[in-house]
Amino acid sequence: SQLRTVVQGMPKAELHIHIEGSLEPELIFALAERNGVKLTYPSVDALRQAYAFTDLQSFLDIYYAGASVLLKEQDFYDMTAAYLKKAEADNVRHTEIFFDPQTHTARGVPMETVINGIYNACQDSPVSASLILCFLRHLSEDDAMATLEQALPFRDKYIGVGLDSSEVGHPPEKFARVFERCRGLGLHIVAHAGEEGPPAYIQSALDVLKVERIDHGVRILEDQALTERVAREGIALTVCPLSNTKLRVFDQMKDHNLVQLLDAGLVATVNSDDPAYFGGYMNDNFLAVFESLPLGLSHAQRLARNSFAAAFLPDAQKQAFL
Ligand code: ADE
Ligand code: ZN
Repeated sequence: SQLRTVVQGMPKAELHIHIEGSLEPELIFALAERNGVKLTYPSVDALRQAYAFTDLQSFLDIYYAGASVLLKEQDFYDMTAAYLKKAEADNVRHTEIFFDPQTHTARGVPMETVINGIYNACQDSPVSASLILCFLRHLSEDDAMATLEQALPFRDKYIGVGLDSSEVGHPPEKFARVFERCRGLGLHIVAHAGEEGPPAYIQSALDVLKVERIDHGVRILEDQALTERVAREGIALTVCPLSNTKLRVFDQMKDHNLVQLLDAGLVATVNSDDPAYFGGYMNDNFLAVFESLPLGLSHAQRLARNSFAAAFLPDAQKQAFL
């Protein structure tokens, strides 16, 4: 179709991808074999069968289990290189990749193994790629602070910090001090907010953490004043349509509020979140929303423009991608 051709042909930036969420079942099994890690699933098919989520937590439990096969620098390299190949095939020109170091350091994997493996794969790809270190919000702020400390020797290898994992019950303000420290280090700041959590979490991400983008943020429309503020300030939302339907934030794609977000004047973008778990990479996400929602070619172009507008790149470099 014409739409498929346009979506495929559009240069785009991806701003919300967890690299551990790009780990395909086949690679999970190959790495388990290579590293002698025992998996609780007997086969690739059995693992894929388990990808039937009811909410964010039901996904996170399986996502952290999948990441347990990552031990060596080469494992992190291979995972990242596989994602970057998919991004390249989807005409993603620039990507800002989240990684969850605590998932690995808690298992005894050194910080340097994690960062170097992911970073070196980015260096070897034709796709422009930057890294964003995410703190796990179900863990303590002290744990986040210790993680930041461990990552400081590699400060030149990531451009920002984020906040992810179980949202409800872990508001942004729990991490006020560690994000203050990160701002002092000149790091870019983002946070997941308003995925399952209330608009109040979006507000405290803005006011306490001082985020430059909101990851997900789809619940913002429940607060009209906040919606107007975020639109006025031009703070982007990194929306992940397939994720939102798989994790039952919306029952079906036809119920997704992407059109309303755009109509409210918000800088919404489309992203894959955890493509190996949610049924698709960037172009799959674009095609899924265009199939189910009243969006046209001009919206496709607007979403692609938004993705570069919201990227942490110098303006001259953004222009060069368009
Ligand atoms: N970690 C990986 N994907 C996530 C998501 N969609 N929300 C919160 N934490 C995550
Ligand atoms: Zn996410």
